[in-house]
Amino acid sequence: MAAESAQTVCVRSLKDEVDMPKNWTKSTWQSFPAAQQPDWPDAGALDRALKQIESYPPLVFAGEARTLLASLGQVANGNAFLLQAGDCAESFEEFTAVNIREKLRVILQMAVVLTYSMGVPVVKVGRIAGQFAKPRSSATEKVGSRELPSFRGHMVNDPAAHEDARTPDPQRLVQAYHQSASTLNLLRAFTKGGFADLSRVHAWNQEFVSTSAEGQRYEQMAAEIERALAFMRACGVDTESHSALHEVDVFTSHEALILGYEEALTRQDSLTGQWYDCSAHMLWIGERTRQLDGAHIEFLRGVGNPIGVKIGPSATADYVLSLCEALNPKRVPGRLTLISRMGADKVEASLRPLLRAVRDAGHPVVWICDPMHANTFAATNGRKTRHFDDILREIVGFVSAHRAENTWPGGIHIELTGENVTECLGGVEAVSQDDLDVRYETVCDPRLNARQSIDLAFQVADLIRTTK
Ligand code: TRP
Ligand code: MN
Repeated sequence: MAAESAQTVCVRSLKDEVDMPKNWTKSTWQSFPAAQQPDWPDAGALDRALKQIESYPPLVFAGEARTLLASLGQVANGNAFLLQAGDCAESFEEFTAVNIREKLRVILQMAVVLTYSMGVPVVKVGRIAGQFAKPRSSATEKVGSRELPSFRGHMVNDPAAHEDARTPDPQRLVQAYHQSASTLNLLRAFTKGGFADLSRVHAWNQEFVSTSAEGQRYEQMAAEIERALAFMRACGVDTESHSALHEVDVFTSHEALILGYEEALTRQDSLTGQWYDCSAHMLWIGERTRQLDGAHIEFLRGVGNPIGVKIGPSATADYVLSLCEALNPKRVPGRLTLISRMGADKVEASLRPLLRAVRDAGHPVVWICDPMHANTFAATNGRKTRHFDDILREIVGFVSAHRAENTWPGGIHIELTGENVTECLGGVEAVSQDDLDVRYETVCDPRLNARQSIDLAFQVADLIRTTK
């Protein structure tokens, strides 16, 4: 009893030190306009699903979100690099251990390339274990000759081309929770249980070693890493006992779109009294939901997680400064990541004034480049696609804008998959428009395949190293 009250006192004093956001609860977003919310046909069923999720355990823990915050603080200060990567949209159908493992494998390969070539820590964040909701530009879409409600991601409806499938079903929120939990469980096992061990750096590459140029370049780097580890052992360093060589932190993130779901997983940390959205370590707001007076900003301003906002070419310097004030008034490095998605042709001109304004105002943001979303076009067969060259060109423009403004190009945000799909054009294998139908499997946007992703990692590392 005495011990318990001592603990209570201790928690209270910790709570007093936390700056709690003013006039905020996990529900205040409900009195703001919320863009992109599904039209749930049955309010009672929605309510029951959300109550169910609210009663479930958190998916991530506050302490983990704080660890990520600190790592992103290093990125904001120019001492680390952020790799945020994964599916455009996760799928209820493609939910297998192999699928998750292959995605993780590519992320680890990219991370090791970037770490080795750039010589700075790489913070790894997946678009994974919760990336199930998609914003849409229109409430309906044409499928063949029919006008159907738009597909909004597997946590809302099903992409099949009939009215029933497209009707939002709240039980999908519950299923998204369970799939996220299983995915996280496997990620934790893989990242801490041997799969991510640096001694396996060769093993991650087995498939495309002999056949591809980027595979061979990777092999050579893997051999160098192995020699370095052997050298350290020969010098008397006990590499076995250093967990940093055997384990890796891979954090989770998704777009915080369906606010009822996010609210249901928002919990108060017993240690600090701060509220955290425990659906993922990091949450972001997209181009379509980043209104300053909207519900998404209202919700995310109150949670302690690191958060991101997508910034397109229409954003003004004034807007970005207001955003920084709204989401990071205390100017905590690592709290706010701005994800630039300007398009390869526009990035330099559009980004520079924003970099300058944020820098001059002294806001410690992480700037990263999403080179995917503003470089999408329809191929001749109607498939949505992106060209590897445009993706790379946007990163080149992003880096040169930062060089010109003397700010740190802090990372990249990529849509990829571990499978050998043909969704993006170009790359070393030169995927052509005719190849797109061979393996086009995405439920939403076109993703880089494993080879294109590793190729990109080498090019990004070269770029940042040589222009430093
Ligand atoms: N733990 C270190 C890191 O995360 C080194 C490391 C271990 C690593 N396994 C890895 C780096 C896999 C990249 C990929 O940086
Ligand atoms: Mn996408």
